[in-house]
Amino acid sequence: AELAIGIHDLSVATTQYVLTHATLAAHNGSDVAKYQRGIGQRSMSVPAADEDIVTMAAAAAAPIVARHGAERIRTVVFATESSVDQAKAAGIHVHSLLGLPSATRVVELKQACYSGTAALQFAIGLVHRDRTEQVLVIASDVSKYDLGSPGEATQGAAAVAMLISADPALVRIEDPSGMFTADIMDFWRPNYRNTALVDGRESISAYLQAVEGTWKDYTERGGHKLDELSAFCYHQPFTKMAYKAHRHLLNYCGYEVDEARINGAIANTTAYNEVIGNSYTASVYLALAALLDTAGDLSGKAIGFLSYGSGSVAEFFAGTVVPGYRAHLRADAHREAIDRREDIDYARYREIHTHAFPVDGGDYPVPRETTGPYRLAGLSGHKRIYEPR
Ligand code: CAA
Repeated sequence: AELAIGIHDLSVATTQYVLTHATLAAHNGSDVAKYQRGIGQRSMSVPAADEDIVTMAAAAAAPIVARHGAERIRTVVFATESSVDQAKAAGIHVHSLLGLPSATRVVELKQACYSGTAALQFAIGLVHRDRTEQVLVIASDVSKYDLGSPGEATQGAAAVAMLISADPALVRIEDPSGMFTADIMDFWRPNYRNTALVDGRESISAYLQAVEGTWKDYTERGGHKLDELSAFCYHQPFTKMAYKAHRHLLNYCGYEVDEARINGAIANTTAYNEVIGNSYTASVYLALAALLDTAGDLSGKAIGFLSYGSGSVAEFFAGTVVPGYRAHLRADAHREAIDRREDIDYARYREIHTHAFPVDGGDYPVPRETTGPYRLAGLSGHKRIYEPR
């Protein structure tokens, strides 16, 4: 029989703070319905001064290592587009915080919001080569746009850690994949900026073009028929985008666009993204976490995934939910990670948003704020220092 490879465990972490869209709307005079109904967002995760992609990643991965041990993890692939260093892989900090064995390969991958899927496919290839190996895939991002810009309402932050192995307990990832690349400047962040630039309208049409492109390639390579897929996990820069994308796909495939059918495919995938905001590389896997944690029994059902990264690269693939998966979920921990966030007011949010670390390489202790398991302790000699809290 063909070797089944896929997601054996999945764990989500987010930030210390949360800003609601009601607070943002009260500050900027927007109608809160534009956020809640128009883009489908209710709140956004905001990192504390001592949190970043590394602390979220370690917090997401630690429960996986606690459950399965580290003996079989031979590779850590860290996907991000909000990297903390241009050379060193953020995953090495996580490797150190979690005490993983030195006989491990660690690397960081980038292609906007898409690279979590590149990491997943890389992991599957490695497990194919050696079925005893497990790969820790981590997607972790902080999404940040300029204050007052249209993108501001779509900010967020989260990490998803996944253990990829043979005979997975949660989801078997299938062949084929449908691929699509187009050279488009819809969203980018030059090296000299810490906030992203975006052409909002262009980015939505680029995303929809990628939906068509990946589906065409997926179908030509003998993928599932649309009707065979029970739910669709889309990259969710804002949750309404998943609805737009699915409506577009149904149209493209010549189906009658029926809103009940779209809701049935999407509604269970948005619960985490709508309160966390855009977590870039993590977003499509947060959609999966929400689906598995909140929907009824999906045993044996096939799910579609559309991973999109501006610029742009996209991939459509499917996975089958493994019977018995519910015993392995972390729904309570995920709910707790979301509910424990502290509500902040607009002034505090603004202070965090405009804060910049000194760049002189001097000693800079970072204030103690997070109540999560790991923190950025400070900067010294141009180095970031992490510690368990
Ligand atoms: N009540 C209900 N709905 C309302 C409303 C109200 N009072 N006011 C407006 N709306 C609706 C609008 O009709 C619109 O819905 P439709 O698109 O379905 O027509 C929606 O709310 C948004 O309104 P606008 O288009 O006027 O909003 P905007 O111009 O301020 O910005 C945005 C929207 C372009 C998505 C902006 O949030 C943005 O730039 N976001 C960042 C880029 C982004 O997320 N792009 C997505 C694709 S790219 C990608 O996926 C990669 C990535 O992660 C970035």
